Amino acid sequence: MRIQKYLAHQGVASRRAAEKMIAAGRVRLNGRQVIDFGVLIDPQNDCLEVDGQKVGAAPRPRYLLLYKPGGYICSAHDEKGRRTVLDLLKGVKERVYPVGRLDYNTAGLLLLTNDGDLTYKLLHPSHEVTKTYVAEVTGVPDRAALEQLRRGVKLTDGVTAPAAVRLRRRGADGAQLEITIHEGRNRQVRRMLDAVGFPVRHLRRTKFAFLDLAGLKPGEWRELRPAEVQKLRAL
Ligand code: URA
Repeated sequence: MRIQKYLAHQGVASRRAAEKMIAAGRVRLNGRQVIDFGVLIDPQNDCLEVDGQKVGAAPRPRYLLLYKPGGYICSAHDEKGRRTVLDLLKGVKERVYPVGRLDYNTAGLLLLTNDGDLTYKLLHPSHEVTKTYVAEVTGVPDRAALEQLRRGVKLTDGVTAPAAVRLRRRGADGAQLEITIHEGRNRQVRRMLDAVGFPVRHLRRTKFAFLDLAGLKPGEWRELRPAEVQKLRAL
């Protein structure tokens, strides 16, 4: 394939603009400047660079586990100018995307990756993985409320699937609960607890499948180990 056609396929420039790049001496093939529009390349084996940047190289796959603090949004841009989780990933050159979302005010475990296949798999409703949250609520849920949370709560978008719920601590005017769900509806835990009359004061995701936050402080992240990525793929 001619170089200008390949550059156009890669979305680098139109064929005409690519010819101009070649004429300007900006294109190198296997380290040597290209001076001829007729040169052919083998995209599998040749190394093509424009202005010293490799063209067509697949980005390095990244799998990051972030301890999201409250007060960060999970999208790349926010029209209100709020801080985004990407602001916490200094030094990560690849474009990564959150696997699902946590609310602005929710803290806890968030995976980010540029592996679209894995993201799709982990979020697909047919194998939504388990997620565990620790919620501080106003009021102390009684046995009936806990049972209702376990069996399913009627929300505007339908009854929730069975959940594992444990009362971790009870105080004078509040309690701490641990809830494990495997659905991924918008604001699900907050809405479930609202529905049974115990609104959330603070919410933190402590687990995503077999992963937890061990060793991380809010705002810190780490790379997943290859074995962890393998295990996620196999879920
Ligand atoms: N449930 C919520 O209510 N909020 C989250 O961020 C995640 C789950």
